[in-house]
Amino acid sequence: MKKFNIAIDGPAGAGKSTIARLVADNLGFIYVDTGAMYRAVTWKIIQSGIRLDDEQEMIELAKQSEIRLLPGEQGQLVFIDGKDVTSDIRSAEVTGNVSQVAQVAGIRKVLVAKQKEMAASKGVVMDGRDIGSTVLPDAEVKVFLTASVSIRAERRFKELKDAGRTGISLEQLERDIAARDKMDQERETSPLVRAEGAVLLDTTEMTIPEVVESILSLCREHAGGGK
Ligand code: DC
Repeated sequence: MKKFNIAIDGPAGAGKSTIARLVADNLGFIYVDTGAMYRAVTWKIIQSGIRLDDEQEMIELAKQSEIRLLPGEQGQLVFIDGKDVTSDIRSAEVTGNVSQVAQVAGIRKVLVAKQKEMAASKGVVMDGRDIGSTVLPDAEVKVFLTASVSIRAERRFKELKDAGRTGISLEQLERDIAARDKMDQERETSPLVRAEGAVLLDTTEMTIPEVVESILSLCREHAGGGK
């Protein structure tokens, strides 16, 4: 199949990264998790002791950071300035602050430019919030993945439980996810929206293989139809 780009957007916990990775593996494409890039910058801001309301300093830091995403045995590895931060960027502290960092237009500008570069040679499956609308408006296949807040909280709860992390209740997770949705949807720069031409997939009652197959079928349609 000739190379093309796939944009997958949607709210937190809709299963984007799992699905995007499987689709990429299946097609032999490169998976790019843009949320991990916002998380890496957030991690570095926290480490540097920069205040989260100091936009100029935060933008400067983003400009001076070298972010790399590399394939690993168990998923994508994330490096910032050569340091492996793959697990650090999933901490509660980073998760709690990343939406605020992602609201800063100057930081988005820096990361969007990097993301466009990563997709320039095609053959990329990119997931995030603004991929189909802003980063890759010309992506050949666009998907908006969603699911009910309660099912997204349940999935996240199970993930944490399986990882031995039981410190947070299902109710709290539901509240956190709803709050993050609201922040991502209401921010001024590149809010989370369903991009023009994006196919809506509500995964509330779908299994992972079913979702992957739906996307692969869109890809086959694209390849066959020569759109
Ligand atoms: O997908 P995630 O939970 O790792 O994303 C982390 C945060 O980054 C989330 O608050 C939304 C934000 N984000 C964004 O604003 N734009 C993207 N393209 C990807 C993520």
